Amino acid sequence: MPTPDLCTEEEVTRLVHSFYGGVRRDTVLGPVFEAHISQWDRHLATMVDFWSGALRGTARFRGAPMPKHAALPGLNVQLFQRWLALFRQTTATLGNDAMAERANELAGRIAESLWYGYQASRADFAQEGHA
Ligand code: HEM
Repeated sequence: MPTPDLCTEEEVTRLVHSFYGGVRRDTVLGPVFEAHISQWDRHLATMVDFWSGALRGTARFRGAPMPKHAALPGLNVQLFQRWLALFRQTTATLGNDAMAERANELAGRIAESLWYGYQASRADFAQEGHA
């Protein structure tokens, strides 16, 4: 269960800013994100809300991750693996092992479900003759 005891809001902000800093510098992930995100301040604020909810139980995030990712062209399993590797590298630097463990576990589960959802939505798309 998410709980405010797990980590502070500052730690969530540090995780998100440091992770997306790394994403933007990454030669593979960077261009994918840069192609779709023009307002980084807004994306970072959304992601702080998302992770604050997932880890601490705040309820600020109002989004719909599945359709947003389904709409991104060209995602593949290697991109998701790289995303997760970078995420785990980032959580390891935070100095909060319980937070790192919980965040890694959630990220892994969500990555898997986004990837399955992505493939399913593309399969429907292909069947409708748009492929
Ligand atoms: C290859 C992997 C990924 C790529 C390229 C990617 C890319 C993106 C992009 C471009 C957006 C902005 C979409 C928009 O505002 O229209 C976004 C939003 C988001 N992503 Fe990812 N993402 C990836 C994996 C993940 C994973 C594993 C998570 C799990 C925590 C995640 C969580 C989110 C959330 C919560 C949002 C906000 C959705 C919303 O505003 O409704 N993403 N992602």
